[in-house]
Amino acid sequence: MKKSPLEYILKQLLSGEFVSGEEIAQNLNISRTWVWNQIKILKQLGFKIESSAKKGYRLISTPDVLIPPLIKPYLRTERLGKKIYFFEELSSTQDKARQLAEESEDEGTLILCERQLKGRGRRGRKWVHIPQKSLSFSIILRPKLSPLEVMQLPLVAGVAICKAINAYTNLRAQLKWPNDILINNKKVVGILAEMSGDTDFVDYVILGIGINVNLDKADIPHELRDYTTSLYLEGGKFLKRAHLLGNILMYLEYWYDIYLKQGFKSIRTKWIELSNTIDKDIIVFFKDKKLYGRAIDLDENGNLIVLDEKNNIHNIMYGDVSIRSNTT
Ligand code: BTN
Repeated sequence: MKKSPLEYILKQLLSGEFVSGEEIAQNLNISRTWVWNQIKILKQLGFKIESSAKKGYRLISTPDVLIPPLIKPYLRTERLGKKIYFFEELSSTQDKARQLAEESEDEGTLILCERQLKGRGRRGRKWVHIPQKSLSFSIILRPKLSPLEVMQLPLVAGVAICKAINAYTNLRAQLKWPNDILINNKKVVGILAEMSGDTDFVDYVILGIGINVNLDKADIPHELRDYTTSLYLEGGKFLKRAHLLGNILMYLEYWYDIYLKQGFKSIRTKWIELSNTIDKDIIVFFKDKKLYGRAIDLDENGNLIVLDEKNNIHNIMYGDVSIRSNTT
């Protein structure tokens, strides 16, 4: 896709070197005044740029904003994020993505916002989004899968995001079945897959991801503080959300492609490696009952295999898991 002048200039500046206004003007076939106007826009957005009459422009620092021109230089994907819709405010990125998918938007289109007023999680729960600190986005996927296989997509995404976080931050993110990402046993990422289709046909899937990036303790509601954390709270460093997003999309595309080509078996092995659920005593919460047992494996479909206290085996497709704390 062709870059806008702003994207081109930003990409040059992100090298950290001085870039000549004259060269940019020549390369883009625009006037130097136009280049200067683009630099002014970047400064208004919070970019700190040094100007030197002799050497040109040099980027001193970037703001933590999620505008597409700042995300694109960090993208190394073929499909995911090739088209980005950014909104200052949305009720939920899931709803906007669904609307766009209904209007035939392609696979890979990314929808993100700075303020998400009614973010939702699994099983009708609310998802808290803190402006300027959270990363909330949805991706339109159009996989050739059966509706049953679609249930594996959040596990695929879990593996990808866990690996991206571990590589980008050096923290040790782990997976709690079915698709929570935890650090030090507290949730840092939530994943939600919503599908449109019928009993044997999938039209599209909206994969929604919410990440607690730079949240402080005070940003987390009191009642969630024992179970919820952020990358900042665990690692002690503020992270640039655009850069993190670029990494996550790269890992997502990589593991999504492996899944589409090879099926769930290669994901299953990685999921087990990254899991904090297998070999633990757990409680599975269903709508109106609980199951006590030990998580012993993940089956070839992504169901959790639980051995209950009477030695019966259960393959669990749906439910919430809580790890019992007296186990290793
Ligand atoms: C969960 O853990 O229950 C899933 C949380 C998913 C939250 C994300 S944020 C982006 C997207 N938009 C939403 O309304 N929800 C998902």
